Amino acid sequence: MRNKIIVALDMRGLDNIVKLVDDLNDKAVWFKLGAVNFTAYSDRVIKALKERNKKIFLDLKYHDIPNTVKEAVFSACEIGADMLTVHAIGGVDMMSAAKDGVKAYEDKYSKKGAKILAVTILTSFNKQTLKRDMFLDRDVEGVVTDLAYNAKKAGIDGLVASPQETPVLKKIFGGYFSIVTPGIRLPSSNKDDQKRVMTPCEALKSGSDYIVVGRPIYASDNPLRSFENILKNMEEVC
Ligand code: C5P
Repeated sequence: MRNKIIVALDMRGLDNIVKLVDDLNDKAVWFKLGAVNFTAYSDRVIKALKERNKKIFLDLKYHDIPNTVKEAVFSACEIGADMLTVHAIGGVDMMSAAKDGVKAYEDKYSKKGAKILAVTILTSFNKQTLKRDMFLDRDVEGVVTDLAYNAKKAGIDGLVASPQETPVLKKIFGGYFSIVTPGIRLPSSNKDDQKRVMTPCEALKSGSDYIVVGRPIYASDNPLRSFENILKNMEEVC
């Protein structure tokens, strides 16, 4: 079960990141690096995680012309990403190119490359901003579903989905995609800026394969105990 928890390393300071990873010792397997910490610490943070045999979810949300994405994905595999994200809005050709990048890595090194996840519509968008900024006069859910169909066409392995989207995506696509869900909180914890949340157990029940948890672990007085409480919620309550 602990393989299903991805700890988001959204705090500042490489020392703080390494301390958290060490405090969680063997319990935590997966860690998420995003634009903030990867831009700041790049190969140093990757090296620190790999030296500790951790799995890396590189959440850089690639969105560019297909060839650039292919090359970026190849490089991400080379530095040790085990899972990474692309924007589904980049199109079927771009997502297929991401998969080609993984294949090129696997052919060159005879090793398994990263799993590719598609991000559909960011949760910071709503129906109004979708129309104003992307000129799409549609419900968010319909666009999310159509982008997921595109991801399937491109052979993408999984989707990042909010707690609200996971059940409908599972209903349509069954077990085809691995689903990674952020916005996870225990009933007792602070929601921070997350508007809609689910408990770890609810996320599993609604079909999430992985949950992403940041502040409830890294901003806690006792990160290891917080991680264990999340695990307990998944193992015992569920
Ligand atoms: O601290 P918290 O648990 O809210 O962190 C959630 C993580 O998941 C953050 O890294 C955030 O950027 C990411 N995320 C999210 N909602 C999305 C996509 C990603 O919270 N829709």
